[in-house]
Amino acid sequence: MAKSKELTAAKRRNLAELTRGLRGIVLFLFLISGTINILALTGSLYMMQIYDRALSSGSIPTLVVLSTLAIGLYLFQGGFDVIRSQVLVRVGSRLDRKVAPLAHRVAIDMPRFGFSTSEALERGRDVDTVRGFLGSQGPAALFDLPWMPIYLAFVYFLHPLIGALTFAGAFVLTVLTIVSEILTKRLSLSTRKATLARNTIADCNARNAEVLKAMGFANRAVSRFNDANGEHLELQTKANDITGTFAAVSRVLRMLLQSAVLGLGAYLTIKGELSAGAIIACSVTAARALAPVDLAIGNWKSFVAARMAYQRLRDTVVALAGAEEPMKLPVPARRLSVEKATVAVPGSGQVVLSDISFELDAGQALGIIGPSAGGKTSMVRALTGIWPVLRGNVRLDGADLTQWHQDEIGQHIGYLPQDVSLMDATIEQNICRLEPDPDSRKVVEAAQAAGVHDMILRMPEGYRTQLGPQGAALSAGQRQRVALARALYGNPFVVIMDEPNSNLDGEGEAALTQAIESIRMRGGIAIVIAHRPSALVAVDLVAIVQGGRMVAFGKKQDIMTPGLQSTAKPVVDEAVSEELQEQVRRPA
Ligand SMILES: Nc1ncnc2c1ncn2[C@@H]1O[C@H](COP(=O)(O)OP(=O)(O)OP(=O)(O)O)[C@@H](O)[C@H]1O
Ligand SMILES: [Mg+2]
Repeated sequence: MAKSKELTAAKRRNLAELTRGLRGIVLFLFLISGTINILALTGSLYMMQIYDRALSSGSIPTLVVLSTLAIGLYLFQGGFDVIRSQVLVRVGSRLDRKVAPLAHRVAIDMPRFGFSTSEALERGRDVDTVRGFLGSQGPAALFDLPWMPIYLAFVYFLHPLIGALTFAGAFVLTVLTIVSEILTKRLSLSTRKATLARNTIADCNARNAEVLKAMGFANRAVSRFNDANGEHLELQTKANDITGTFAAVSRVLRMLLQSAVLGLGAYLTIKGELSAGAIIACSVTAARALAPVDLAIGNWKSFVAARMAYQRLRDTVVALAGAEEPMKLPVPARRLSVEKATVAVPGSGQVVLSDISFELDAGQALGIIGPSAGGKTSMVRALTGIWPVLRGNVRLDGADLTQWHQDEIGQHIGYLPQDVSLMDATIEQNICRLEPDPDSRKVVEAAQAAGVHDMILRMPEGYRTQLGPQGAALSAGQRQRVALARALYGNPFVVIMDEPNSNLDGEGEAALTQAIESIRMRGGIAIVIAHRPSALVAVDLVAIVQGGRMVAFGKKQDIMTPGLQSTAKPVVDEAVSEELQEQVRRPA
C-alpha cells in the first residue's frame, strides 16, 4: 500500500516535470493571442473610419493620420504573430528534447515485453507528430478560438441583428467542428492500428530479405503487405474524406455568412440604421471571427493525431516513474542465488519456468542442458533481468536484481544471447558496449579472452572496422566470437552464454573453454547453455532444464555419469554425451 502511494507520488513528480513551465507558456500564448485578435480589428475600424470620416469630410490629413495609425497597428499585429509562432516552435523542440530520450528508452524496452519493433518505434514518431503540429497553423487557430467573442461583440455593437447572425454562424460552425471530432476520433484509432499492422509486415519482410530472395516468395510477402496497406489506405481515405468534406462545408458556410452579413447590412443601411462604412466593417469582422473555426476544422486531423501522440507520451513518462533510482550497491563478488523463481513471458503471462532454485558461488561454472523449448533461454532471461520474475527472486550477493540500477548491474553481467546480433558500429564499440572512451587495453583483453583478437587484426581496419546493420560484415562464427568478447569485456562477475558454441570451430571452442576457465580463476561465475557437450568442458556444475522445470542440479560428474562420481572423466566424451541425451529424453 505504502509502495503504491510512493509510486503515485513519483508519477505525479514525473508528470509535473514534463509539464513544468507549460502552464505559464500557455497563459502567455493565450494573452498574446488576445492582443493579436484585438489588433486584428484594425482593418475593420480603418475601413469604417475611411468611409464614414475621410470620405464624407473629404479631408486628406484625416486619411493620412488614419492610414499611418493603421500601418502601425498592422506592424504590431505582425510582430506579435511572429513571437507567437516562434514560442510555439520552441515549446515543440523543448518537449522533443525532454521526451525524445525517454520515448527512445521505452522503445528499447518494449520488444522485451512482446511489442513489435513498429509499435516500439511509434513512440519516436509520436514525438515528431507533436513537434510537427506545434510548428503548424493548427495551434494558432486553437488559441484564436477563445477570442471569437471579441469580434462577435464588435459586430453586435455595430448592430445587434448582424451580431445575432454572426453568432448563429459561429454556432453552426462550432457544431460542425464537434461532429468532425466525433467522427474522426473513432477512425483515427483504427487508422493507427492499421498503420501499425502494415509497418510490422514491412519490418518483418525487410528482416527476412535473404530468405524471401532465396526461396522466391518475395511476391507473396509483397501481396501480404499490399493487403495490409489496402486496409490502411481505405481508412486514411475515409478519414480524409470526412475532414475534407467538413472543411469544404465550413468554407462555403463562412462565405455564405459573409455575404449574408453584407446583405443584412445593406438592408439595414437602406432602412437608415447603419452607416456604409459599418457594412464593410461588419462583413470583414464576421469573416475574421469565423476564420479560426475554419482553420481549426481544416487542421482537425493533425490536432487529433497530435493529441493522441501526446497522451501516449504522457502515459509513457508516467509509467517510467516506476523506475525510481535505486541506491548504489557494492560490486557483487560472492554469490548468485535463485530462489523459487517462476518466469512468465511478459505480455502474455504464459508461465515457461516454475520454481527454479539454485546457488552459485564465485569461481563456479554451471552448464545448463536439456531439450529444445525446455526453458533454458527463458531461464537466462530471468537471470539477466531481461524478463522480470513472476514469483521468487534472483539475487546477486543477496540483493534482488530489481534493487540494482539497470545500467550499473549491466556492468557486472556478461551476456551472449542465442541469436547474436551486433550493433551498427565498429568492432571496438561493439566490444566495449558503446562506452564513449573505451580503454583499448580492456577491449584487447576481452578479444583475446574470446580468442578473436588475431581475427580482428586481420580485418581491413582492425578494431575500427565498421560492422554495418546487425554486424553484417562478419561471418556467423565471427559474430559469435565478437559477441563473446563483448560479454567478457570488463571482467563482469556473472557471464551467461546461451549456446556460445553453436557456430564455433575447434579453435573457437578451445577459446571458449579457456574463457570459462579464466572466469572461474578470477572469481567470477560462468553459466553456459549447451546442446553440444564440448562447451561444458570447463564447468563444474550441471543443471538439466526440461519442460519448464529444473529436473537435476549437481556436480557435473554426478549428473552426467551417475554411479561414476569421483572417477568420472573430467572431459565429457561422446559416450557420456550420448548418456546425457538419453537422460534428457527420459521424463523426469
Ligand atoms: N517471447 C516468447 N513468447 C512466447 N513464448 C515464448 C517466448 N520465448 C519463449 N517462449 C516459450 O517458452 C518455452 C521455452 O523456450 P526457451 O527459448 O526458453 O527454450 P530453450 O530451452 O532455450 O530452447 P532451445 O534449446 O531451442 O533454445 C517455449 O515453449 C517457447 O515457446
Ligand atoms: Mg534457447
